[in-house]
Amino acid sequence: MILNTAFIFLCILITNGVFCVEDEVKSVSVMEGESVSLNTDVQVQRDLLILWTFGPQITRIAEIIKRDQMNYIFVSNDGIFRDRLQMDNETGSLTIRNTRSEHTGLYELTVTSSRKTLKRFNVTVYAPLPIPVISSTSSNCSSSSSCSLLCSAVNVGHVTLSWFKGSSLLSSISVSDLSISLSLPLEVEYQDKNTYSCVLNNPIRNQTKHLTANGLCHTCEEQSQRSYTIPVVVGVLLLVVMIAVFGGIVFWYIKNRRQAPQSGKNAMKKMTVYSSVVMS
Ligand SMILES: *[C@@H]1O[C@H](CO)[C@@H](O)[C@H](O)[C@H]1NC(C)=O
Ligand SMILES: *[C@@H]1O[C@H](CO)[C@@H](O)[C@H](O)[C@H]1NC(C)=O
Ligand SMILES: *[C@@H]1O[C@H](CO)[C@@H](O)[C@H](O)[C@H]1NC(C)=O
Ligand SMILES: *[C@@H]1O[C@H](CO)[C@@H](O)[C@H](O)[C@H]1NC(C)=O
Repeated sequence: MILNTAFIFLCILITNGVFCVEDEVKSVSVMEGESVSLNTDVQVQRDLLILWTFGPQITRIAEIIKRDQMNYIFVSNDGIFRDRLQMDNETGSLTIRNTRSEHTGLYELTVTSSRKTLKRFNVTVYAPLPIPVISSTSSNCSSSSSCSLLCSAVNVGHVTLSWFKGSSLLSSISVSDLSISLSLPLEVEYQDKNTYSCVLNNPIRNQTKHLTANGLCHTCEEQSQRSYTIPVVVGVLLLVVMIAVFGGIVFWYIKNRRQAPQSGKNAMKKMTVYSSVVMS
């Protein structure tokens, strides 16, 4: 929870007393799910009225009336404030627990005692920040000296996406249209050993994704190697098949040539056997 604490009072005399309006609206920022306290800076004494209202409809959400024997306390348990509102009956300070985006808006506090005071709190509830994702744009992996990276994040509103080199800002982007997700490119040389980080931030928090020792550029290099690997493997396979086929042909040829003289020799043997028989 972050509170802007500057305040100035403007008081005017009205017929039945003094009416003071706090000139500045206090800005209060909180992350969704967290609690936020709106402080009255008063002590509840006798004869005092505290009224909390919310939003453009000026809906009454909490009230303390303390007058003579009367001690009335009201805290809304309806709609968006169900089970979330808590009021300190000593100070009238209001706490909203487990905040959601619907609790964003203007809260007005009216304190009436001897004078009437109006204070305004501009509460902003920020959506949780996703961790940005760094990817390599693979179609550019083959480019020899550098690799292209892209950092992206869902646009949850009031956010800026930035690339940092060490601690210096390189580039940033912010889009008000929530349907457009954020993405920011970065070109990194393969031999660049700087630490890069992609940061998604709103006015109060940030989520950082570090890119250390060109981790993704290595995968980019591997990808380009892999794209070389496929033709190489196919080529080697083709060569093996060709050698096998050629070897088979040569083997078959040699075998046949060897068989041809052998049958000739046999014939000659037969012939000599035959001739010897004839001679005897
Ligand atoms: C506040 O409420 C507590 C009980 O919840 C009670 O004891 C106390 O007297 C109250 N204080 C005032 C100022 O109303
Ligand atoms: C409340 O805060 C938001 C964002 O900080 C701003 O846009 C808006 O104008 C403020 N409203 C008032 C009434 O100050
Ligand atoms: C590849 O890089 C060039 C500049 O180096 C850029 O113009 C192009 O858009 C990139 N392509 C992709 C798919 O990122
Ligand atoms: C992110 O937030 C941390 C604290 O949570 C802060 O130290 C750091 O400087 C912030 N980084 C940027 C880039 O805003």
